[in-house]
Amino acid sequence: PDTVAPNLVAAVSEARQWQRLMEMGELGGFRDADGHWGVNRACLTDNDRKSRRLLIRWAAEAGLTASIDQLGNLFLRHEGTDPTLAPVLTGSHMDSQPAGGRFDGIWGVIAGLEAVQALREAGVSTKRPIEVVAWTNEEGGRYAPGCMGSMAYAGYRPPETWDAVLDKEGIPFGQALAEHLKSEADIPRRPLGVVEGTAPFAYVEAHIEQGPTLESQDADIGIVTGIQGSRWFLVEITGKSDHAGTTPVGLRKDAVQDMVRAINALNTLMHDPTDTLRFTVASIEVLPNSSNSVAQTVRFTIDLRHPDNSILQPRGNAIEGVVQSAMRYCTAKVIERFHATPTVFHPMVPNAVEAAARAQGLRAIRLPSGAFHDAQFMHPLCPTGMIFVPCRGGVSHHPSEYSEPSELAAGARVLAQVLNDLANS
Ligand code: GLV
Ligand code: MN
Ligand code: MN
Ligand code: MN
Repeated sequence: PDTVAPNLVAAVSEARQWQRLMEMGELGGFRDADGHWGVNRACLTDNDRKSRRLLIRWAAEAGLTASIDQLGNLFLRHEGTDPTLAPVLTGSHMDSQPAGGRFDGIWGVIAGLEAVQALREAGVSTKRPIEVVAWTNEEGGRYAPGCMGSMAYAGYRPPETWDAVLDKEGIPFGQALAEHLKSEADIPRRPLGVVEGTAPFAYVEAHIEQGPTLESQDADIGIVTGIQGSRWFLVEITGKSDHAGTTPVGLRKDAVQDMVRAINALNTLMHDPTDTLRFTVASIEVLPNSSNSVAQTVRFTIDLRHPDNSILQPRGNAIEGVVQSAMRYCTAKVIERFHATPTVFHPMVPNAVEAAARAQGLRAIRLPSGAFHDAQFMHPLCPTGMIFVPCRGGVSHHPSEYSEPSELAAGARVLAQVLNDLANS
């Protein structure tokens, strides 16, 4: 429908949503050297658990019921007048980057709750149930890769795929997850993923843009058209540790030297005059990591992204060969850890977002997402879409990440109307 639901829109509370975001920002919150309030809330940590508990409490007060699946994905259900119908899903993630902000992920979950609570307070019932979901480990900072919860839900990978993945303390993902599930034993369990063949009717994820487009074009709402593809690799280079003062170059197997050659060769491979291909090396581990011992082992990550699979695929496939031919002294191993194909959303949700924004007099533009999201893994299951709101300077994954309370409220109002429209169709 191309009309505003006035009582529904009025029931969205800017103050309540903001207050909740600020309260969540205390969990794992810290002040950085420049005075920005950042968040470090890695998945399956104490702070992650506390944030889920807080969310469940607010949701219960609003009349929603909680359940979790075997990946720890948390669902908060608003019942439909016909509970047998496929639900509309909305949400995002509550974990953060190690030095993240107060909005990435968590806003999509809080906005989902705000929108559903507004529906209920406005006395608007929906035919379909609506479930607000918080996916486990979207960021991939503690356990790589990200999007484990949504990947397992979508059946993209079996749930035990990542059991042996270690964090920096050597704790396996499987153990952290088992401990988490044990501490959440009082929350009703639900089967993982789509059971009895009923896929959700639609999935809508609200998120800060994490880029500069909306702000620079003075738009209130981003109608997300799709998500570029990503591939993550881990490269391990093995040489031999030796005395830095006594070992002649000819006898060395220096893993750092070969890593530098490999990264330089990769930079050449990934050069893109159109600046569309994104190639990032951002995590480097050196062993034994001592200034007077030649490096024995180096591990580094590659994050590669492009909206076009015909470029993403061959460039990604070329990494192994380029790394191998850069080795002068050492041996190298390249493992692919994550692969999300470029996604173009089904028009249903984007069109609903556009209609809601227009009906509310907001300026909305269509744009693709440069960041990946759980929505990428929901896309094969059901019509999927995202709502972006501007963030200051386009900054995210940093404590200075910021969106105005009014910008976030506008996003929640659009989400409320979209959920209302989808859940009644
Ligand atoms: C997830 O935050 C990403 O890297 O896009
Ligand atoms: Mn996010
Ligand atoms: Mn993120
Ligand atoms: Mn993300």
